Amino acid sequence: MLDPVDISLVLRGTVVSSRPDRSLSIREDCLVAVDSKGFIAAIDDGTGSALADEVDTLVREGKVGDDKVVELGDGWVLPGFVDTHIHAPQYPNAGMALDKPLMEWLEAYTFAAESRIDKDPAHAQRVYQKLVQRLLENGTTAASVFGTISVEANLTLAKAFLDAGIRGQIGKVAMDQNSLPSYIETTDSSLSDTHRFIESIHSLVASSPHDQQIVEPVVTPRFVPTCSIKLMKGLSQLAKEKGVRIQSHMCESQGMVDVCREILGGKSDVQVLDELGLLNNRSLMAHCTHSSADDLSRLSRTGTAIASCPLSNVYFSAERQLPLREAWDAGVKVGLGSDISGGYRVGIDENMRWAVGVSRLREGERQRDLRAGSREDERSSSLAITWKEALYLATLGGAQALGLDEERKVGALEVGSAFDAQWIQLGHPRSRVDWFDDEEEGGVIKRVSTEEKLEKWFCNGSEVDRKAVWVQGKR
Ligand code: GUN
Ligand code: FE
Repeated sequence: MLDPVDISLVLRGTVVSSRPDRSLSIREDCLVAVDSKGFIAAIDDGTGSALADEVDTLVREGKVGDDKVVELGDGWVLPGFVDTHIHAPQYPNAGMALDKPLMEWLEAYTFAAESRIDKDPAHAQRVYQKLVQRLLENGTTAASVFGTISVEANLTLAKAFLDAGIRGQIGKVAMDQNSLPSYIETTDSSLSDTHRFIESIHSLVASSPHDQQIVEPVVTPRFVPTCSIKLMKGLSQLAKEKGVRIQSHMCESQGMVDVCREILGGKSDVQVLDELGLLNNRSLMAHCTHSSADDLSRLSRTGTAIASCPLSNVYFSAERQLPLREAWDAGVKVGLGSDISGGYRVGIDENMRWAVGVSRLREGERQRDLRAGSREDERSSSLAITWKEALYLATLGGAQALGLDEERKVGALEVGSAFDAQWIQLGHPRSRVDWFDDEEEGGVIKRVSTEEKLEKWFCNGSEVDRKAVWVQGKR
């Protein structure tokens, strides 16, 4: 029996969500009831469930007030977008200074932007407030975030996520070599500050009036070139001791791969990160564009997830994109990341479009090589992904990469799922999504279907099409 007092929200209309096999479920005329803790208590998708009938009756009898009922009209809800890789302090640089290769770009622009955040608390506050607002407008309900070196600035970042109510896995960046003299730590201070950062986040969330599980700390060795072996070893131990997640960058560009081989005496960053215990089922590695088949097996075996950032990779890894289909075939978890400011667009929509685009270019290259006889036809399926598969990456795939699908079933809209969702409603005068129903002979109207509208929105949707966002049932 449902307690009417325990129902915080009832939605009626179309529910869209990806399945673990990457297909898309579109359920029209649904009723969704969300409980006071923000979990879906019941869904009636017309197949009949006693529990859902009960909710319906409660609404009809006025025991659940009108203020708790959302009519989705001809719109739909789908899970919120998950940004699996974003550098919050780089937001001021988004959309500029993309003219250099990765390793030069970091030194020329990026470390300086992060250093400014650490030196100027008012600047940090302004940047982080604006960023969380933009994330919500873009439907991002969870993110794995790189901050800066300073513990204090990272607490400002964590507070911004808590206050906005966005799920944030927040990392204090650790780096003790190969950076600017003004933006670097010693090995010992990096380890002790990471320790202090983890404890500070735990006490911040414990004293917060907000949902305590919204924000968590992540151990964040920036990438192999800026971290000594001693630092990475220490961070690996700390992550294990504290039971926290790990994030870093891996084999992102040819320049980075070459630097790693040079400083690691011929080994790759993938090998060394694994040897140091930094690859496990709570690890998330950004990019991985240069992964070999062996690397993908290693990621799969260790349970490590990939944060794929196709827009950023078009700039910094143009010579090689993530072997996405191959990663899926190997059983690796993959989500999408904006990689602000290597990628210039806040939000995940642009990246889900680029994910389709670059996969099509990869398939085109494969076809060309097959015709030229320079590649063996070793596979039966296309390397190109569909828009539905990209929507899976942006939602459930991302939630799986962040481990959010386990306890709270984020990324799905099922009974027991945390209600992390976005409401899309087309028809705004400034929407880029237009459609025209056909009038056939005899006055019969052939309407554009919900699935066709979804594909149109996938390609051309923008902020104006998004009417609301919820995280853990909170609007
Ligand atoms: N590798 C190490 N740091 C960074 C960063 O800030 N952005 C990107 N794209 N790659 C990195
Ligand atoms: Fe990055």
